[in-house]
Amino acid sequence: MSRRFDGIARKALFTFDPEVAHGLSIAALKSGLVPGCRNDGDPRLAIELAGLTFPNPLGMAAGYDKNAEVAGPLARLGFGFVEVGTVTPRPQEGNPKPRIFRLPEDRAVINRLGFNNRGHEAARANILSGARPGLLGINIGANKDAEDRIGDYVTGIGAFSEVADYFTINVSSPNTPGLRNLQSREALAELLGRVLSERAVRAPKTPVFLKIAPDLSDADLDEIAPECLSHRLDGLIVSNTTLSREGLVDTPAKSESGGLSGRPLFLRSTIVLAKMRQRLGKAVPFIGVGGIDSAETAAEKIRAGADLVQLYTGFIYGGPMLPSRILKGLSKICDDEQIARLGDIRDSRTEHYASLPSGA
Ligand code: FNR
Repeated sequence: MSRRFDGIARKALFTFDPEVAHGLSIAALKSGLVPGCRNDGDPRLAIELAGLTFPNPLGMAAGYDKNAEVAGPLARLGFGFVEVGTVTPRPQEGNPKPRIFRLPEDRAVINRLGFNNRGHEAARANILSGARPGLLGINIGANKDAEDRIGDYVTGIGAFSEVADYFTINVSSPNTPGLRNLQSREALAELLGRVLSERAVRAPKTPVFLKIAPDLSDADLDEIAPECLSHRLDGLIVSNTTLSREGLVDTPAKSESGGLSGRPLFLRSTIVLAKMRQRLGKAVPFIGVGGIDSAETAAEKIRAGADLVQLYTGFIYGGPMLPSRILKGLSKICDDEQIARLGDIRDSRTEHYASLPSGA
């Protein structure tokens, strides 16, 4: 029944342009017509991390709910947490359309949205007027034309201090020119210093995570790791979309510019995750994201070093019942492996993935 619902929903949505389909899916969630699923059924999937209790480890990644309109309905589909944004201080249009492209043969998407969003004020109002969704992450970014980009992240901390369960500093979108340079050691030191000082004043108990790109070399990772440790960053999200087009089926969409997400990103992002887990040690929380579309791929991210996982593109192809299927599959993995907590499988494959060459 649920697979049938997903199949019908996907077929209908895929007849539309991807961005129109996205708008329709947001409207459907808002309307309350999409059936829900409980997300706190299996205590073996629950996890405490960075001072927060997650009912399960599966989250919606940033970019789906850019303006914090449907965090509640997403939580009702089963997601244990929802990350909204990226939000920038001022509203911005983003890049010219079309700017989202499906690659169905690869179960992938290329997007060059460029942080289209309605700004801090609108997102904040949406959060305050909606039902509390469970755990809510706020992904903050900088306006394209900001004079002081780091200042925009600092402003984000203040704007959402009473509503965020955690913050994500997004320095890894490929669609805002120059943004990824904030991952260089000097810029990162300044960014973390200023953002975490603001956090200490405005939201001292709220964890701050950093979201990085999958296109970083081992040398880049060697520079990022000590900054994360010396600033006592609360956690890392690995990863955002990739600029690589390796291994794609040869279709016209492949040559669109932008960030690639979905299945072809799985290995590349998992390698960077494992390499950073090795560099930061076992105590730092990690969220693994990139190419998750099943319980097995979610579990594999955890084996590579993730505590929590997120997905977006899997939801486009898998439909609204995907979270509930993944949660059921994760419970079955606990049965099969006879473990008391899903987290027990963490790091069992870190060495393997960390030994593979990163794509950069
Ligand atoms: C994204 N992603 C993203 N990430 C982010 O930090 N801020 C954002 O605004 C967006 N926007 C966005 C739009 C679209 C259309 C897509 C497909 C993706 C990246 C996303 O959160 C995630 O890191 C990657 O997509 C990899 O995960 P999946 O999609 O392979 O599960």
